[in-house]
Amino acid sequence: MACEIGTDLERAADIIRRGGLVGMPTETVYGLAANALDPQAVARIFEAKERPAFDPLIVHIPDVSWMPRVATEFPDLGQRLAARFWPGPLTMLLPKAAAVPDLVTSGLPEVGVRIPDHSMAITLIRTSECPVAAPSANLFGRISPTTAQHVADQLAGRVDYILDGGPCGVGVESTVVRLSPRPALLRPGGVSLEDLIKVAGALEIEASTDHPGEVAQSAPGMLPQHYAPRTPLILDPPAERVLGGRWGVLCFQRLPGEREFCAQEILSPEGSLTDAAANFFAALRRLDELGLDGIVAESFPEAGLGRALNDRLRRAAAPK
Ligand code: TXA
Ligand code: MG
Repeated sequence: MACEIGTDLERAADIIRRGGLVGMPTETVYGLAANALDPQAVARIFEAKERPAFDPLIVHIPDVSWMPRVATEFPDLGQRLAARFWPGPLTMLLPKAAAVPDLVTSGLPEVGVRIPDHSMAITLIRTSECPVAAPSANLFGRISPTTAQHVADQLAGRVDYILDGGPCGVGVESTVVRLSPRPALLRPGGVSLEDLIKVAGALEIEASTDHPGEVAQSAPGMLPQHYAPRTPLILDPPAERVLGGRWGVLCFQRLPGEREFCAQEILSPEGSLTDAAANFFAALRRLDELGLDGIVAESFPEAGLGRALNDRLRRAAAPK
């Protein structure tokens, strides 16, 4: 089905005000945006994505003066994190204001809030005059979109308009942190753990990426199987494992081992994790479109953005 892609911010804001859905560019990935304070509009997001209602949505605001519209408290630690990382790829959980429908938070008392670092997103939210709920604009559990066309590929006919803000600069979703009772990392993302620790001090790692099954219980939505291509994906297979049929490879800097692959995506020959993150979902999507028997992926160094990328790879590789 056709789906209009363009840069008409007035039109996009009008759709949001009327309770519709807009594909919204952010620095991390494209979001599927709706008025966060309109329960029917929010319900449309869940419907369009085929997303289960137990998976809460992130609410986007343009600046901290909007905080009272979505949260009842903005503690000192939150303000320090905001001063350092906003606008940017960090989501904080804060006590939800009554105006935020329960559907947004899946009934939880806290709401995830962030200020995106993308001028089109900021203008859209300001012009719409409402906080905007936006999950990544993909079908539930599938590969996140980093271009307007990716959104159309998965959601054409389910979204009213897609704002084209070009390819996303960061390429992986925001880092999600809980502030209370103790600061904790729920989802590794565009702000690295190392940088967070510099502001927050000690941080519990709730999103234990080694045991994704446990994460599903502590943070709704952090399901073991997520970000998944349709093609089976295996992570770091031992050299002796025999791979029958046609395989592609997704690697960081250079091809691993001796194997022959019929398609390859090398994310950053220079070894930049920032470049690798920016290319990651688009490369995974290209491999997925080739109708291969499988994709071999290689883990990244477990530091900086590598942590977020490894988290996405583990979930993409988890059994369906
Ligand atoms: O970068 C991003 O965060 C993108 C862009 C569009 O902003 N959005 C995004 O949303 O990745 P989504 O829905 O794909 O992932 C949101 C995740 C949830 O699955 C959950 O793990 C966590 O954020 N989350 C959101 N609100 C929460 C809450 N109230 N309590 C616990 N976890 C929450
Ligand atoms: Mg998502």
